[in-house]
Amino acid sequence: MCGIVGYIGGQEAWPIIYEGLRLLEYRGYDSAGIAVVDPHGNIQLRKTVGKVNGLDEDGAGPKPQGTVGLGHTRWATHGRPTHENAHPHTDCQKRIAVVHNGIVENYRELKRRLTDDGHVFESETDTEVLTHLVEEGMDQGLTFQEAFRRMGRMVKGSQAISAILQGDAAQICALRLGHAGGIVVAQSEGQTIIGSDLPALLPLLHTESNIGQVGFLETNEMAVVTRNGVDYQDLDGNPIVKQTRMVSQADVQVDKAGYQHFMLKEIMEQPQAVASAMRERIDFEARRVDLPDFPFTKQEIADLDRVILIGCGTSLHAAQVGRHLVERYGGLPAEAESASEFRYRNPYISPRTLVVSIGQSGETADTVAAMQMAKDKGGKLLTICNAEGSQATRIADGTLYMRAGIEIGVASTKTFLASLTILNLLAIFLGQSRGILDQEKSQELVDGLAQAPRLIGDLLADQANYRRIAQLYADFDYFLFLGRGVNAPIASEGALKLKEISYIHAEGYPAGEMKHGPIALIDNAMATVALAPKDFLYDKVVNNVKEVKARDGRVLAVLTEGDTELAAEVDHVLYIPEAPEHLIPLLATVPLQLLAYNIALLRERDVDQPRNLAKSVTVE
Ligand code: M6R
Repeated sequence: MCGIVGYIGGQEAWPIIYEGLRLLEYRGYDSAGIAVVDPHGNIQLRKTVGKVNGLDEDGAGPKPQGTVGLGHTRWATHGRPTHENAHPHTDCQKRIAVVHNGIVENYRELKRRLTDDGHVFESETDTEVLTHLVEEGMDQGLTFQEAFRRMGRMVKGSQAISAILQGDAAQICALRLGHAGGIVVAQSEGQTIIGSDLPALLPLLHTESNIGQVGFLETNEMAVVTRNGVDYQDLDGNPIVKQTRMVSQADVQVDKAGYQHFMLKEIMEQPQAVASAMRERIDFEARRVDLPDFPFTKQEIADLDRVILIGCGTSLHAAQVGRHLVERYGGLPAEAESASEFRYRNPYISPRTLVVSIGQSGETADTVAAMQMAKDKGGKLLTICNAEGSQATRIADGTLYMRAGIEIGVASTKTFLASLTILNLLAIFLGQSRGILDQEKSQELVDGLAQAPRLIGDLLADQANYRRIAQLYADFDYFLFLGRGVNAPIASEGALKLKEISYIHAEGYPAGEMKHGPIALIDNAMATVALAPKDFLYDKVVNNVKEVKARDGRVLAVLTEGDTELAAEVDHVLYIPEAPEHLIPLLATVPLQLLAYNIALLRERDVDQPRNLAKSVTVE
């Protein structure tokens, strides 16, 4: 969740770390801080509550000078977002500065012992025990590296930790424990940067070549960065030979391209995202799905007896849609479950179980832990993921990359549509491979998918209409989103988008469940968004809409173009084009995203960085 940046090189560290924190701000923005080792070897610290730009605005005089430093942008877990709780944290003697992403699960007992031994704590964070543990090791005569490793062996929980030491010998230690909290190390032309993820690192290497040598830390691995380069080692200090690769800045460039928000830019990019997810995975001549990146053999596919799809948040909604698609076109029993629940069950998983994880970041702690559990139980593990080289892609037997491009808006949009596209491809591929779909049916499905980018592009054309409808609904404080079948998770996704960026209370509900409780909420203060496209459950949803109207509810319906009959019975309509059934979840999502976006704008919310949220949830 939090973002970490560290720098050693020939340039001033402050502006580089500051820029890196801005790029990492989507991971958390409760507070920020930078520590720089000044030319006298002392650690200079500056912190702010709130966003990173506060570091520039706090009137604290000239920026700390020096060519070695560490920075942090925080998503608060332990302790409120205050100045004292902002990272970096220092030890009693102010010799060490530490930044941290994750949770020290045994911090209470460690803090108690360290306090009894005379260490003075200045914050309420779990992080601060890390600084005092390193200090304790050094007080016992260990070197900085040895004390840092000892600290790594003493703490419990998944996390990324980095520290700098005062003095002339420039040195950053960075450590990854467990599955949460990645650390990437990028080197180029005498400079080294460490950080939480790749897109935030490479733009910081202001080098002529614009290319960096990049290594990812695995669990229980540590990087020791000095002016001479990087040493990778394990927690006992044994050297590790790290496979690194060259990555160019062009691979990770991000900007708003003239849009007011990343979210809007990313919504507008959805036709390309969907097309890119299909690229080289459809043989348009044969009108077949061909997944060259699917990791299992024909025999293994034939032997599958069950598919479990897991994810969190928006990715869970994609999993729930995927379940319908796999059952319908793949001909396999399928379940979808929140990774945070799944990881604590004891599900039956065998080598014949295909577990499919979905995740934009590939770093969501619950998803990664659930994947590891499924792998340990012997399941076949596939991930649908957007972030190259992420944890999920390293744990899985194979990855179907979304290829949606970097998504910066905290609210997931284009990666959701890319996930739905790939889940369609996966379901068709399983059906083809297992002889469930005959040639005619799979060709019809493939032809349908080929239309998706154009149809989504058409939906994006009339922005004025989404703005107009948003104006009519922006003052409602309660929303119910209803959908049935494959569109029930789309209703949940519409509600999630609205609540996360506008802070309006919104519930997503399977329409058929409404009469079992939520109907009690219906009155003229409750807005109902009903998904009623022309599919095989259309008549059922029509009945649900009528039930709402009979109770004075205001209904905004998402209907198929030409449906004048139901349009006449509801208050307002957003149309989607007539399309094959497997495209409807993709198409119905777009108006809901734009409704949420425009309502959030009208309510003057921070659309790209809504309060309390973070793009990558790397803590439990
Ligand atoms: O990176 P992931 O897809 O695993 O992230 C999962 C959720 O945290 C994420 O989808 C979250 O719900 C989004 N903010 C929704 O817009």
